Amino acid sequence: MGSFQVDDTVGSVVARRPALSRVFERMGIDYCCGGKKTLEEASRKKGLEPETLLLALDESVSSEDAPVVDVAAMSLTDLIEHIEQTHHAYLRAEFPRLDGLTNKVASVHGKKDPRLRQVRETFMALQEELSGHLLKEEQVLFPMIRQLDASATAPVFHCGSLANPVGQMEQEHDQAGSALERLSELTDRHAPPDWACNTYRAMLDALSRLESDLHQHIHKENNVLFPRAIEMEARKGI
Ligand SMILES: [Fe+2]
Ligand SMILES: [Fe+2]
Repeated sequence: MGSFQVDDTVGSVVARRPALSRVFERMGIDYCCGGKKTLEEASRKKGLEPETLLLALDESVSSEDAPVVDVAAMSLTDLIEHIEQTHHAYLRAEFPRLDGLTNKVASVHGKKDPRLRQVRETFMALQEELSGHLLKEEQVLFPMIRQLDASATAPVFHCGSLANPVGQMEQEHDQAGSALERLSELTDRHAPPDWACNTYRAMLDALSRLESDLHQHIHKENNVLFPRAIEMEARKGI
């Protein structure tokens, strides 16, 4: 038997596991104002069998326990592929959602807690910076590293050594790290106040996941990909 029952309410599921708000969003089920409906009522209203919803919730819970990848054992090309498909794809999927959540929470509750408006502003700046950052990696730095990985001798890059774009990316990682720290401070380490509604809770959960995903992402680039690429460039240099 799965972790959820047809007579659990939508709101109680999101309160227990805010990340599952994604499943409800995907199915067009309102978990904030419509949170009192049972899973059975909410799914029937959308023309779905309740079992389909239960299955989607259980799958989402088990996908959270995804296996840890051994990045040190990967080739640089595979590691780039992994970073793009896991972390870059995650950010692109999560940004529009967090954009909506931070906007809604700031406009509804910003009067009660003005820090929520700062959360919104900090998030928007981070989103903009990181969107440019992902493109620079995907269009400039990563193709250079792929080329290096596939060559017998280090190619001559127009921007000189890989250390130049790598230094720039590391600087941008530091800025992203500061924005995450600020978001964490502004939200009391992502802890909801007693009066927080489910949208507020979903926003905090999403921000906390954004922080841990970005920490892993930056770790894989700063501590694995970049030093290995620079070392390979030196080794393959003439
Ligand atoms: Fe990246
Ligand atoms: Fe990066």
